[in-house]
Amino acid sequence: VKRVTTNVLRSMKSKGEKIACLTAYDYSMAKLVDAAGIELILVGDSASNVMAGHETTLPITLDQMIYHAQSVIRGVNRSLVVVDLPFGSYQGNSTQALKSAIRIMKESGAHAVKMEGGKEIEESIIRVLSAGIPVMGHLGLTPQSIYKFGTYTVRAKEDEEADLLRSNAKLLEELGCFGIVLEKIPSKLAAEVTASLEIPTIGIGAGNGCDGQILVVHDMLGINKDFSPRFLRRYADLYTEMTNAFTGYINDVKSGDFPNEKESY
Ligand code: KIV
Ligand code: NA
Repeated sequence: VKRVTTNVLRSMKSKGEKIACLTAYDYSMAKLVDAAGIELILVGDSASNVMAGHETTLPITLDQMIYHAQSVIRGVNRSLVVVDLPFGSYQGNSTQALKSAIRIMKESGAHAVKMEGGKEIEESIIRVLSAGIPVMGHLGLTPQSIYKFGTYTVRAKEDEEADLLRSNAKLLEELGCFGIVLEKIPSKLAAEVTASLEIPTIGIGAGNGCDGQILVVHDMLGINKDFSPRFLRRYADLYTEMTNAFTGYINDVKSGDFPNEKESY
C-alpha cells in the first residue's frame, strides 16, 4: 500500500480532492479506519473525553497520548497518523514542546503532531519543525482553551477574532505547518482562509469550503447519545446496536441459552 504523506495531502488540495479524516485512539478502531481508506487519522486529545470520560481535554497526559498513539500505529498501514500534543506539553516553552514532540515520534512511531494556537505558540512550532517533525495547526475553537472561551460556541464570528484567525492561518503556513484544523468557525471564513492557503485545511464544524473534514469517530458512529452539535452527522447508531447486543447477551446468559452445545467443548 502507498502511504499517505503530508505531500500527498498537499497535492490532493491542489487537485481539488477532498481529504477524509477521523480520530482513533486504539488498535482495533485504527485498523478499521485505516482499511476503509481514511487519509489522516488523528490521535486526538479528545481521547480525554471519549476514552477517559473527562469533561475537557485538559487532563490527558503526554504519557497517555503516547499510549494511544502506540496502539493506533499498530493498526495502520496507509493513513497519515497525527498526534495531539496535550495541554501543558508545549505552550510557552519551546524546549518542552520539542521534547514532547520527540517523545511522541520516538515512542509511538507516529508521523506528525498537532498543536492548538497561532502566534502565541510560534516559537514552539518553529522548534518542533526544526527537528524535522511535521506540524499540523489548529485554529478556531481550540478546546484546550475552553476556560478562556467559557463556552463551546462558534468562534471568530466578530471581525476582530476573524482577522486574528486569518493572520494566524497565514503565519502557520509561513512557518511550515503541513495543514490546519479549523474548528467551529463560520463556513464563509473557513472557505476564505482555505482559498488563501496552499496547505490544506481540515474542517470540523467549519462548513464545506475546507479541503477536508474530520469527526471524532465515536461521535460519527453514534456511540454517544448525549452529544449532538449541528455539525455532527451520524453514520451509524452504535448506541442502539451495542445496547441490543449487550441485552441480547444478558438475556441468553440468564436464560441458559448461551452457550449451546455447538459453542461448547
Ligand atoms: O482531539 C480531537 O479530536 C481534535 C479534532 C476534533 C480536530 O482535535
Ligand atoms: Na484535539
